[in-house]
Amino acid sequence: MSHLQNLLLDSLLGTKHVDSAALIKLHERSVCVASPGFSLMPSDVRTLVNGFAKNPLQTRREGLYFKEKDYKCVRADDYSLYAKNNAVYFDNPGGPENLYIKEVPKPIPGEGEVLLKVAVSALNRADLLQRQGQYHPPPGASSILGLEASGYVSELGPGCQGHWKIGDPAMALLPGGGQAQYVTVPEELLMSIPEGLTLHQAAAIPEVWLTSFQLLHLLGNVQAGETVLIHAGASAVGTAAIQLTRMAGAIPLVTAGSQNKLQMAEKLGAAAGFNYKEQDFCEATLKFTKGAGVNLILDCIGGSYWEKNVNCLALDGRWILYGLLGGEDVSGPLFSKLFYKRGSLITSRLRNRDKKYKQMLVKAFTEQILPHFSKEGPQRLLPVLDRVYPMAEIQAAHEYMQANRNVGKIVLELPQ
Ligand SMILES: NC(=O)c1ccc[n+]([C@@H]2O[C@H](COP(=O)([O-])OP(=O)(O)OC[C@H]3O[C@@H](n4cnc5c(N)ncnc54)[C@H](OP(=O)(O)O)[C@@H]3O)[C@@H](O)[C@H]2O)c1
Repeated sequence: MSHLQNLLLDSLLGTKHVDSAALIKLHERSVCVASPGFSLMPSDVRTLVNGFAKNPLQTRREGLYFKEKDYKCVRADDYSLYAKNNAVYFDNPGGPENLYIKEVPKPIPGEGEVLLKVAVSALNRADLLQRQGQYHPPPGASSILGLEASGYVSELGPGCQGHWKIGDPAMALLPGGGQAQYVTVPEELLMSIPEGLTLHQAAAIPEVWLTSFQLLHLLGNVQAGETVLIHAGASAVGTAAIQLTRMAGAIPLVTAGSQNKLQMAEKLGAAAGFNYKEQDFCEATLKFTKGAGVNLILDCIGGSYWEKNVNCLALDGRWILYGLLGGEDVSGPLFSKLFYKRGSLITSRLRNRDKKYKQMLVKAFTEQILPHFSKEGPQRLLPVLDRVYPMAEIQAAHEYMQANRNVGKIVLELPQ
């Protein structure tokens, strides 16, 4: 921590509250931060200090004022540091009942970052795991839930390259923080909303479509004519992966746990679907491929599927593990089975990739895939939305996903 940060931290932690404002003594100067209902928690102080140290001018303009002798109280408005910023929050890991809405500091865009006023966010399995204390955000990421959001550009941090203007509609891939009214995002991780899509549809795109694109193309090197087995075919990732597999000229096969989910997958382009609760997907896949097996497996299940996966993998097949919904333990001759098929087992996690990788991914996706959400025709891509919940009903949204009831995405409307 820098000298300035230490200085500020000491001063701020000795803060005296005056109505809706905080008066801060710093050397001869007094500093005032104000907001309706404002109260400084030590964690908020740290956020404030980090923001200030990163960008003093910005912070000053945003409602943190220095004055020679006395303090000046400034009411927060929509653009101030402590403007109302409600977020989905939990204090202790546990069930959905631990979630509530809390007012948190409005984040400050740093160098090359944009502040997005969030209209809609979406749920991901990662949110459920994080809530349960099983998935910590990567270092430096917000601890607030939310890996994606759509909304409007509300502010530009210093050094932004001019790609975005205040008021532009946009959607963002985030390592966290999307389930709040404001979130900061590096400008390169924002994407334009394809023409014809709503903010709700846009919020359903970044995390699962970028994941599917990455799994199929960057890691799986999918080729036209190949067969791709997509587990959890009616999941949000699954519904995107089916469509991208078709677009690549490959043949998607899926597994899912109900007839209704299989029907949806087939509507989206799956050539065949297998109910893993009623039939052996490995046998069904081998039958479909006339014994050859599948060239690529997109696997978010892991442990419980390992043996069937390797048994239905084609020679030189690629098996990409990107989730562990079916457990993490493997007991049996995985290596020999994989080895005799010259199979590749690749693992992937998008959230903890570095900024450079994500920029590259967003750029490639923007150029190659995004236009297909607007184009009329048989290959038009469609974000699949299951339900919309208002932010206040976040507990119900988590319960719904946890019960495996969704087909496609669950999106979350933020108060405007
Ligand atoms: N690595 C990455 O970068 C990355 C990125 C995004 C998502 N993910 C992972 O991808 C997975 C899917 O995410 P999502 O948002 O698309 O999820 P989702 O829409 O909530 O769908 C998940 C579905 O998986 C099926 N499922 C759950 N437990 C299962 C089990 N034990 N065995 C078989 N099927 C099971 C259920 O459908 P059925 O009714 O068909 O059983 C469930 O509805 C998650 O594990 C998530 O963490 C990873």
